[in-house]
Amino acid sequence: MGKINYDGKVAIVTGAGQGIGRMYALELARRGAKVVVNDLGVSRDGEGMDTSAADSVVEQIKADGGQAVANYDSVATMAGGENIVKTAMDAFGTIDILINNAGILRDKSFMKMTEQDWDLIISVHLKGAFCVTQPAIKIMKDKNYGRIVFTASTSGLYGNFGQTNYGAAKMGLVGIMNTLKLEISKYNIKVNTIAPTAWSRMTADIMPPEYEQKLNPQFNEPMTLYLCSEENQVTGQIFAMGAGWYAKTAVVSGEGVCIGDARRPIAVEEIRDNFDKICDLSTPKEHDSGLSIFSYMMPLLK
Ligand code: NAI
Repeated sequence: MGKINYDGKVAIVTGAGQGIGRMYALELARRGAKVVVNDLGVSRDGEGMDTSAADSVVEQIKADGGQAVANYDSVATMAGGENIVKTAMDAFGTIDILINNAGILRDKSFMKMTEQDWDLIISVHLKGAFCVTQPAIKIMKDKNYGRIVFTASTSGLYGNFGQTNYGAAKMGLVGIMNTLKLEISKYNIKVNTIAPTAWSRMTADIMPPEYEQKLNPQFNEPMTLYLCSEENQVTGQIFAMGAGWYAKTAVVSGEGVCIGDARRPIAVEEIRDNFDKICDLSTPKEHDSGLSIFSYMMPLLK
């Protein structure tokens, strides 16, 4: 097996001015991709704007002999998303790879969460993925090729205190992916979701200081770049990672239990009496679409 490269490929990385996104942009360029380095240059909570974040990564890529162009639009509006895609088209003429990575935090316990904290997080993480991905897919569809990555979080997959807004947005990305994978599979476009872990300004004050080196953002880069490679054939999957640990994670169903005969009403006591079987996840199963859940009900539907 040869070295994986991205020669001739054009990649957009959102929020690539620092942290994990910067790692993606640098390595994609080192391996031959032409890269759109998008970054609005905001503070951790989404305030301000600074073009130097994207510029510094572009300068580094060019100094290393690679090709890159900066874009400073916010992912959170359709106009911004369209302009990010236009930047790629104007500079490099196509799009092969999109890594939706831009993000901010507005942590608060649920009871203290303001409408603004809620809306801003949802608009950057969830709506942002829609705003950039839809115009990018229009290009990928026509060329019958594309690799897309969404950036979720274990906060969405499993929960984290003070992050109901962030967790909802991040889990929402899994919801987008689950349906999008079905809609774009015939165009040879693969879409996957990652849940990274890294020491960055986003996590520096919540992680133990001794983890700074070991949770280097670089460790998230090879998995994400593999998912963006031509070799990758998986789609609709979730991968969690950090510090050199990589694992697939998934939403699964247990076998469950069929009660009654789909004619008579079912009583709440029957749920109580079957609760252990209902909760049994000893034979977990993934599902390609919501329709496959019908297979469990088939004995009742015959
Ligand atoms: P970071 O704060 O170092 O980088 C995020 C970048 O996104 C910043 O440069 C920021 O200016 C940019 N950005 C923010 N809003 C933007 C907008 N509307 N449009 C364009 N750019 C925007 O964060 P980090 O840690 O590198 O995170 C990258 C992604 O990974 C984020 O989506 C984050 O939620 C996610 N993540 C990170 C984890 C970690 O442990 N660091 C854990 C789980 C998820």
